[in-house]
Amino acid sequence: MPTDSPQAFDAAGFLASVGAAAQAAQSTAELDLVAQEHLGKRSALAGAHKVLGQLGDEERKAAGALLYEARQGAEALLSARRVEIEALERQRQLETDRLDLTEVVLSSVVQPISVGHAHLIAQTQAELEDVFVAMGFTVAEGPEVETDWYNFEALNIPPAHPARGMWDTFYLDLGDAETVVLRTHTSPVQVHLMEEAVRSGDPRLHAVMPGRCFRRDTPDARHLHTFHQIEGLVIDEAIAFVDLAGVIQTFTTAYFGPGINSRLRPAYFPFTEPSAEFEITCTICRGEGCRTCSQTGWIELGGCGMIDPAVLEAVGIDHERWSGFAFGFGIDRCAQMRHQIADMRALVENDVRFISQF
Ligand code: DAH
Repeated sequence: MPTDSPQAFDAAGFLASVGAAAQAAQSTAELDLVAQEHLGKRSALAGAHKVLGQLGDEERKAAGALLYEARQGAEALLSARRVEIEALERQRQLETDRLDLTEVVLSSVVQPISVGHAHLIAQTQAELEDVFVAMGFTVAEGPEVETDWYNFEALNIPPAHPARGMWDTFYLDLGDAETVVLRTHTSPVQVHLMEEAVRSGDPRLHAVMPGRCFRRDTPDARHLHTFHQIEGLVIDEAIAFVDLAGVIQTFTTAYFGPGINSRLRPAYFPFTEPSAEFEITCTICRGEGCRTCSQTGWIELGGCGMIDPAVLEAVGIDHERWSGFAFGFGIDRCAQMRHQIADMRALVENDVRFISQF
């Protein structure tokens, strides 16, 4: 066999073949096979080695050196390729084993961190305040517990007046019958502000007064016994009804967006004359008529009117010189209309599935 003849061993061809096979190998296992094939017991190289002993001294030396160099060369090629393949294998391993640390942290090790946020009513109050502040109003607050005088009498609602029936009132039992109440509306804050303005010597006022109110009502889809209103009050010289209508319409578009209009319908409130109910386009049907708006296309938001001279007089403001308008409407109702919330009770049940939607 010529290949078994050590003198005829084609070292260059052998190395070329080892090199090509080593390059083709893609794993250490494949490379082991290449090594076995070229350097193993059954390889041509091993075959040539076996025959060395049959050669004469000179020839054996020369042929032995040739075979030795061929083996050395082949081993160098194989080990160089091994280094490459091991690097490739490490790379592959890293890719398949890569740990997505964020995924592990969020899904199985630690509960997702949920960040709290302001309740929808607080958000709504803040947005309403922003709208009015942009229109030049200041923001004021008053007490939630009021005397009968602030909640009713100063607002032109004398004791035993039938208009008291408009407010189902929580009275506090402090000994004297019916003198201290949980405020039924934010209108008494008007009285506090007017008193303060009179004390300061300048009755001019442009203020909104948000806050919590209470009524002895049974909660339903559109009423809560504890709810929120925002009151508005403007007092100046030569204030007219058209100013009131303008403020209401400007507010409506600013808060509810285009397509939602306001209208004023004649109504009665003891503290305003004339008085009106303030309605907006139903946001559920956008005026088409639906169950929520009883097919009218309009939803009542609150009341308003020109301040009754009796109210100005009760706090000592000259109604011949000064006039003004006031309005008051539900903050919870605004949130309900803006976000199409079918049942207002959801606002106070504190179900996180509801709360986290806003
Ligand atoms: N306070 C009234 C209520 O809760 C709403 C209201 C009506 C407020 C007319 C006003 C007003 O300031 O002018 O029913």
